[in-house]
Amino acid sequence: MAPQGGVLKGIRYFGLTFFTNNHQPTTNSNMSIVIIRQDDKIELWKKAIKSVDPGIKVFSYLEPHNKEEVEVALVWKHPKGTLSPYPNLKYIASSGAGVDFIFEDETTPEKLPITRVVDTMLASDMSEYVIAAIFSYLKHLNIYKTDQFHRIWKPRPYHRISDFTVGIMGLGALGTVLAKDLIRFGFKTQGWANSQKELQGVKTFHGKNEFDVFLSTSQILVCLLPLTVETTGILNATLFHRLPKGAYVINAARGGHLVDLDLIEYIESGHISGATLDVFHEEPLPTSHPFWESEKINMTPHYASVSDTDSVVPQILANYRRMKKGQPLLNLVSEIKGY
Ligand code: GLV
Repeated sequence: MAPQGGVLKGIRYFGLTFFTNNHQPTTNSNMSIVIIRQDDKIELWKKAIKSVDPGIKVFSYLEPHNKEEVEVALVWKHPKGTLSPYPNLKYIASSGAGVDFIFEDETTPEKLPITRVVDTMLASDMSEYVIAAIFSYLKHLNIYKTDQFHRIWKPRPYHRISDFTVGIMGLGALGTVLAKDLIRFGFKTQGWANSQKELQGVKTFHGKNEFDVFLSTSQILVCLLPLTVETTGILNATLFHRLPKGAYVINAARGGHLVDLDLIEYIESGHISGATLDVFHEEPLPTSHPFWESEKINMTPHYASVSDTDSVVPQILANYRRMKKGQPLLNLVSEIKGY
């Protein structure tokens, strides 16, 4: 679990120390935020915001409030249509790394800037998750768990770090941290991105021309791409076919990247040896979905990395203050690129 409170809160962001829980918070009664999300975390986010700045007006979209004065919508998978009632929004802040759900809402007010979270804790959480999935695969931990239930004693072929090349699709804030961590463990690590990237110790590929070579040499493929029009359905039969026989797939980005039935087909044919999936087209995954039946698919409930309020709220409020001062917003999303 992430630590609650503490001296260092906020210091990692932009060097602004006034966010720390141990300092007297600045109050800003002329700032007003609405939180729109469908899970049970609205009160948690409100509390976290209030603990950094008790003066800020912060509302759940479900409670009575003056919509005219709200300038920032802090959203996570908001119900479609819930942004349009705010006539004076200055920008929309995603409370996670992803923003795909904002673009998917056709009622989102046009031309409003969108920001996302770029957070060291979110990135290191993701890296830990993917590394755990890689080691579970390498050491057959999931298979041994199933064997245990069937009272089967059957050592599998031994795997070592040096046996595998890990290919990361997406070398943004998350992929970069993962790549660095994998190198520290001694994995041969390569990455593919839309544009050319340079990362010490990482073999990098970019663009459509280099995609095939990247795929054909990735024995473990990790998808950390943003979900955009271009990347929707990218984990499909054509891609699986290009991976080396026996490759393992990890998708911790978005369910929309994956063509579910193509994965099942390639796992059944033995070309893909298995997969770890954290994200799904529909969440929670319907109980009728064939993934539940597959012993070779390991699933977690969109848990790979979750925004920690203590870590993220300081940067959300810092950005709001920047806007108030007329300074450019940080972590702005490009409307053209979609991330
Ligand atoms: C989690 O899925 C995120 O986008 O932060």
